[in-house]
Amino acid sequence: MMHQKNFAAEASQGDPDAYLRLEGVSKTYGDFEAVRSLDLAIGKGELVALLGPSGCGKTTTLRMIAGLVPTSGGRITVGETDLTAVPPHGRDMGLVFQSYALFPHMTVARNVAFGLEMRSIPRGEIDRRVKEALAMVQLDKLAERRPRELSGGQQQRVALARALVVKPSILLLDEPLSNLDAKLRDEMRTQIRDIQQQVGITTVFVTHDQVEALSMCDRIVVMRNGRVEQIGTPVDVYERPATPFVASFVGRTIRLSGTANGDGAIDIGGDVIRSAAGLAPGPAEIMVRPHRIEVDWTGQAKTKDDVNRLSGVLCRITFVGDVIQYHVGIGDAEVIAEASTTGNQQLPAAGTPVTLSWRVEDTMAFGSGQ
Ligand SMILES: Nc1ncnc2c1ncn2[C@@H]1O[C@H](COP(=O)(O)OP(=O)(O)OP(=O)(O)O)[C@@H](O)[C@H]1O
Ligand SMILES: [Mg+2]
Repeated sequence: MMHQKNFAAEASQGDPDAYLRLEGVSKTYGDFEAVRSLDLAIGKGELVALLGPSGCGKTTTLRMIAGLVPTSGGRITVGETDLTAVPPHGRDMGLVFQSYALFPHMTVARNVAFGLEMRSIPRGEIDRRVKEALAMVQLDKLAERRPRELSGGQQQRVALARALVVKPSILLLDEPLSNLDAKLRDEMRTQIRDIQQQVGITTVFVTHDQVEALSMCDRIVVMRNGRVEQIGTPVDVYERPATPFVASFVGRTIRLSGTANGDGAIDIGGDVIRSAAGLAPGPAEIMVRPHRIEVDWTGQAKTKDDVNRLSGVLCRITFVGDVIQYHVGIGDAEVIAEASTTGNQQLPAAGTPVTLSWRVEDTMAFGSGQ
């Protein structure tokens, strides 16, 4: 089972369960602010994703946690210990980067043993722990191979074993799966999550892939321009995004502009859309997940209290295998609604008037300035 842990939805500074804590952590390069006063409290054993577009400060944040990049301000603590000024080797953290940087001339086993050898651990214990770590990532049979004799996923798992074998208190992963093909990435996601749960290790996972963050993590920190946009469980950030940016970054959406009239309704080209958001009168936007929208062209769509309806004209249909996409013109805008394919469907022609409908509770609404 994923997400069985019920961590508080919002990390707060007073969270007594917090293990790894960032308080007002920032990083400036000249007058550029790469990370701006970041607050984050991560519970012991929690797997938290830093999710955001390229350049938003994910790697910088991770490297500050690791001690590889000095902070420009703020505090990083683990338990009661202030690590802000502690060098990387004093922090007890395991790291896995996008490029796994294995030693090419060493066997898999030697690669994994390296960190333990550096710590002058007795040979017998090293052998035992390397074996254990390789078994965990299911590479025990390949211990004597060299990195070039391994696939990308296998090399990735060596890197993971190498990080885990020293039993760090915190595991830091920076886009560890981005070099893998889609299928292998899926498998590795499950494996990393399983191992993380098995070991119970507190983990920060950097990714710009929302599926990865949603499917693997207890909580997600959505970042933008060096700032936190939202912290929450996968369900939180997907179902209750705090901003339009979060809504569009963690899932696909249709997006329409209109005018909020002050009592929960938003006028979109004459159709009135309701939402649970209490918006002040003025410019507003609504967003809906494409697969939550029903498209009707029979003129028989039922009117229900808890359903929003919008009239449009079908522009075109795209068949995408599992789903059919309906491109629908709403005034000057075009939105894409999506439905599963069922075989022998009678599809309407371009130019057909259609009605889009979706539940009021599936309507994400935002005022201007969000
Ligand atoms: N040494 C540096 N000197 C100046 N600017 C830097 C330095 N390192 C990073 N930056 C800038 O800081 C910002 C954040 O970089 P960072 O590597 O943290 O982004 P990221 O979120 O990891 O992006 P990506 O998804 O592309 O890896 C970027 O705009 C980057 O150009
Ligand atoms: Mg990065």
